[in-house]
Parts: sequence; C-alpha cells; structure tokens
Amino acid sequence: MMHNPIAQELNAVIKKGNPHVLEMMSKIGRRLYFPKGILSQSAEARQKAYDKFNATIGIATEDLRTMCLPTVMSFLNEKKLRPSDGLTYASSFGIPGLRQLWREQLFEKNPSLEGKTVSLPVVANGITHGISVFADIFMDPDDVAIFPDKMWGNTILALSVRGDVHIVQFPMFTPEGGFNLAAFEETVRRQAETNYKVTVFLNFPNNPTGYTITDSEGQRITEILTQVAEEGTNVLAVTDDAYFGLRYEDSAIAESLFARLADRHPRLLAVKLDGATKELFVWGLRVGFITYGAKVDGEPVAFYDALERKTAGNIRGTISNASHLSQSIVRKALQTPEIYDEREEKVAILKRRALKVKETVYDPKYADAWSVYPFNSGYFMCLGLKTVEAEPLRVHLLDTCRVGIIAAGTHDIRVAFSSVDEENIPDLFDAVYEGIKELENG
Ligand SMILES: Cc1ncc(COP(=O)(O)O)c(C=O)c1O
Repeated sequence: MMHNPIAQELNAVIKKGNPHVLEMMSKIGRRLYFPKGILSQSAEARQKAYDKFNATIGIATEDLRTMCLPTVMSFLNEKKLRPSDGLTYASSFGIPGLRQLWREQLFEKNPSLEGKTVSLPVVANGITHGISVFADIFMDPDDVAIFPDKMWGNTILALSVRGDVHIVQFPMFTPEGGFNLAAFEETVRRQAETNYKVTVFLNFPNNPTGYTITDSEGQRITEILTQVAEEGTNVLAVTDDAYFGLRYEDSAIAESLFARLADRHPRLLAVKLDGATKELFVWGLRVGFITYGAKVDGEPVAFYDALERKTAGNIRGTISNASHLSQSIVRKALQTPEIYDEREEKVAILKRRALKVKETVYDPKYADAWSVYPFNSGYFMCLGLKTVEAEPLRVHLLDTCRVGIIAAGTHDIRVAFSSVDEENIPDLFDAVYEGIKELENG
C-alpha cells in the first residue's frame, strides 16, 4: 500500500534525523500519520472563528458554551462521588451496573430487539476505541469494509492505516435524494463474490451528512444483508450509532439497524458501537460500548460471555480499562430520572436548529451556489458547492469573516449546526454565500 503523503513527510523527517529509528518501526508505525482532517481544520477555526460562527466540530454548544445536562454536571460540581466510584480500577469489561443498564436501555430504545438476545455491552474508551477493538478482533489485513462515499474520516485511521483493511465505497445518495440501495446492494454482492466475509459499516445519523435512512430503506438493507448471508458469505454488520436519538423528522428510522440485524442468520453478526459521548453530551468522558447480536446455536449466555471475554482481553492488552470515574458519572446520571427530560430539552434545541437550517438553505437565492445533501438528524449537514472548491472557501471564510466550516470533500462542505445557535443560522449561510461570490469574482 502506498503510504499517505503526510506519513511520507513524517518518515522523511525521522529518516533525516536518524534513519535507524525509521528502520526500527513496524509496518503500522511507518504508515501512521496525524491527519489534516477535521481536527486541524477545527483547531484553525478555534483560533480565527472563536467569537463568531464555529460550525466545525462534532460537539454541541449554546451561546458559545459547551452544551451539557445539569444532572451530569452535578456529579462534577457537587462532589457526589466517593473514591471507590472513580479512583479504583474499573473492570476491563466495564463496570457491571453500567453494562446492565445500557443493555436494558438498548431494549427500550430499539423495539425490534424484543425476544432477541444480545451480549452485555463491553465498555470502550469512546466509540473510536470501539471501532479499533472491533478491527483488532474481526479484521485481517486486506479484508474488505464497505462504506458510503460520505463517511467519518477517522474510521480510515482505525481500519485502514492501523488494520490494513481495504475500504470500498459506494455512492450514498440517489439523484432523487434517497439512500442508494441499488449501489449498496451491487457493492455488497460484488465483494461477496470474491471474499468469504464482508464487513458493512452503517452509520445513521450519518457523519458528515446528517442523513438517517427511512424505515423502508432500513428494511431493504436488512433483507440484502440477510440474503447475502443466506447465499453463503459471512457478513459483519457494524452499526456506528454515535448520534443515536438525534432524530428531527418522522422520515428517519427510529431505531438502530442493529435491532433488525441481530439474531437474523447464522452467517450474520451484528455489532453495535455506541456511547454516552453524544447521547449524553459528554464527549470528553470517553465512554463507548460494543454489543454483539448473533444467531446462536444453544446457550446464548455462554456464547456471548466468550465474545465479551475476547473483547475485554483486547481492552486489557491495550488501554487496560476505560476510566472508572467517567463510567460512574454516566451510570449515576442514567439512574437520575431528571436526565431524560434534560436530554429531550437539548435534543429539541438541536431539532429547532435543524429545521431552521432547512428553512434557510433551500432558499432559491442560493440555488446558483450549492445543492443540499439530504439531512434529517444528527449534528451536521452538507452542501455540494457548484462553482468553487471547498478548501479555498473554508480558508477564505476564516480569513475574511471568522466563520469556520469543514471542507469535507473537493466540492463538499460540512456545517455543524450543533454548534451554531438558531438565531445565527441565516447569517451563517449568508456569510458562506457571500464568501462563494467573492471567490467566484477572484
Ligand atoms: C460517526 C462517528 N462515530 C464515532 C465518533 C466518535 O465517538 P467518540 O468520541 O465516542 O470516540 C464520531 C465523533 O465524531 C462520529 O462522528
């Protein structure tokens, strides 16, 4: 595999300083780099757009302050935690009370799980770590992982750079603006012809587009994956449910596809990656979960126990265990009844922003500048630029009007309305439009 250009640069610097150190590195060591992706674009926006509109990063803010649930903050501010809640080690599996509670809530949030058995969730250090643990356990070099062409870039580091996985993409949308089921099916079937196993990542609400599939699209994806399994290919269906629950329109499916895919077919393993990160507005606490749903011959408890032990073994050998303090805060917060209304209030704020964005971006006055990718959920939305490229526009907006957006593709920009207050949304898009016109006119 050709090394990424940034990795090549880093390797050249190391080689110049001491060539033996480069020789000593593993294949992964030589391949690693720190991407100039969302994090570096966001760092620039923090410097230049801190006092205006910083619509870059996947957190949520209100009045330029971090959005938070009062119940969560009460455990930090009112010192309601004992040393044994946080200073001692957590188990590599995660703390038992939190694992039980998260599973109970999975059944409440996902009605199609009724009557099915799933593993206890194993606690990872955020969802990112969950992806990496999944890759360690299930992916060999050159295995194929299928994604839509709109995907979260960090998955590339976890799967492709670290795991040597081959990422195959398909166009996510039809021209009419639905999920491209035909391209999805064609890609899965083509890969199934030449591989014993295919891995499919399903991320709804999607980063970067903010799209969640409809119920009938979910139905069809489930049928396609089940048929491919029936025809003899092993299928790993991984749902990245980072933005679960941030649903703003009835068009979006209300439950995770994990619930539909679990316990379907012996050759189909559903893996759910989710977390407190966005569901509870606690990005930095780093609490994620890995949950398995399979068709099990015989006693499911013993089967899932074995899978959980392998998962915890990987965690033991890498980070040892996720933060006990963070897990205790999440567990206690979930046991506090008020938190559910607090959460609904914040989701309602984000929903009002999403509807405001909808009201704004389709205005015919912008029609010469962009088209809008479908969105109905999550933190983000994307615009396809018709006349200028995304990266020069990003830099121009930062330099001329302190507006931060993400260049998400050559002609696509991602706007995080999760971090722009509702009343500023029309001004934000006006600024983007003006920036486009200025660039057009040189
Ligand atoms: C699709 C997707 N998955 C996973 C994550 C990461 O979640 P965590 O912060 O829990 O690692 C993000 C966050 O940006 C995301 O957008």
